[in-house]
Amino acid sequence: MLTATNEITVPTDLDRFFTDNEARIRDELFELLRIPSVSARSEHNADTTRAAEWVAASMRAAGLQATVHRTPGHPVVVGEWRGAGANAPTVLAYGHYDVQPAEPLDLWTSPPFEPTVRSGKIFARGSVDDKGQLFLHVKAVEALLRTRGTLPVNLVLLVEGEEEVGSEHLSDFVESNAKLLRADAVVISDSAMFAPGLPSLLSSLRGLAYFQIDVQGPTTDLHSGSYGGAVINPAMALARILATMHDGSGRIAIDGFYDRVLDWGEKAREEIRDLPFDEERFREETGTPALGGEAGFSTLERLWMRPTCEINGLLSGYTGEGAKTVLPSKAMAKVSCRLVPDQDPQQIEQLMRAHVERFAPKGITVTVTHLHGGRPWRANLDGPLFDAARRALTAAFGREPVITGEGGSIPVVGDFQRILGAPVLLMGFGLPGENAHAPNEWMSEESFTRGLRAVAMLYQELGAKS
Ligand code: BES
Ligand code: ZN
Repeated sequence: MLTATNEITVPTDLDRFFTDNEARIRDELFELLRIPSVSARSEHNADTTRAAEWVAASMRAAGLQATVHRTPGHPVVVGEWRGAGANAPTVLAYGHYDVQPAEPLDLWTSPPFEPTVRSGKIFARGSVDDKGQLFLHVKAVEALLRTRGTLPVNLVLLVEGEEEVGSEHLSDFVESNAKLLRADAVVISDSAMFAPGLPSLLSSLRGLAYFQIDVQGPTTDLHSGSYGGAVINPAMALARILATMHDGSGRIAIDGFYDRVLDWGEKAREEIRDLPFDEERFREETGTPALGGEAGFSTLERLWMRPTCEINGLLSGYTGEGAKTVLPSKAMAKVSCRLVPDQDPQQIEQLMRAHVERFAPKGITVTVTHLHGGRPWRANLDGPLFDAARRALTAAFGREPVITGEGGSIPVVGDFQRILGAPVLLMGFGLPGENAHAPNEWMSEESFTRGLRAVAMLYQELGAKS
């Protein structure tokens, strides 16, 4: 039987606007995708500024007031439209214009900053994460303002340029601009749908605590014959430290690490089991010979409800062609922990420091540097915000959304909830296999087209509620 929500469709005026303007909207998105706004690299600082200015200009063209705010890092863009009146709700939409580095460049089929369409996919760094998705909001606003001359809600669009490096300056910005950013709800499109054509709402994100571990031994590299066996090898020492971080069952062996990990309960696990998940396909996508992780949990549970502790990078000694008998003077590892509710990044930092200190062999110096962190998040999926999102997605995709979790992180989400006290909705339009952070990142044209309608519908539905 059809429920009332299934009968919702995208209004003709909006649908027509998006159809008539499809080519122009795509050309504009491509302009943004051509700007190499890599936040991690200072040589791209002029590009991140250019991207911020571009986003502000595009907001203005859509009918918003926009300002570019300097921060100690990359600029923040704020767009505003406050014409809906005091009785209408205020919505804060958030996105990020910065992107991950594109390297290794030789693995891209077409250059990362020359957007190219192949088989219905827009290939470019940032196409899905997050330029394509943040642009949906700008264009949805434009569609509503052009077709109806007004928005059903008051709107603040907040677009930052440091998400991919941990949003270091954003919580300060949110804190000191809390009045400007005050909202009844926060909406973010920076995540993926569970499967093609299957719209999804996120119920959780993992947090993050990111470290660099440096091990220093002798002041210079040494002949491994003249010194090896009598001088502690920093690479071996680091390997030993890293090897103590898990036990044999894949559980993290850092004392106290699980103290604040919530048990999601049987009902949540059942809902996860009910999702149409093809584990073999997931494995195939990664190219890994076999999946693995903490004993006693399924793949999706490992990704969504369980924390991790992982090596992101390792550096030491001779790694060039052939052999070199050398005892390296130092070794370095990048190690990050994905956190789940209610773990606290600062507490995890203390535990990590204590653990490394405890297992560091004598005869070397170890330094742990905390690089960045963010809190995990779990949604309460009741209330008008989520009902509006369900209706909007159903109208745009012709299918009710599923509720999913997410293994990735968006550091500011916890801050929004804490500082603004507003519920957060994560309504994303990526797809599995989209290669975010990897070579050949893409966004599906179909998801983009439907996403435009879904976001416009969301604003309409949120306004209709008031
Ligand atoms: N868009 C992602 C978060 C995400 C990833 C959502 C996968 C859904 C699926 C975001 O831009 C991201 O990559 N965040 C970083 C944050 C980190 C650098 C602090 C992440 O998760 O690694
Ligand atoms: Zn992102």
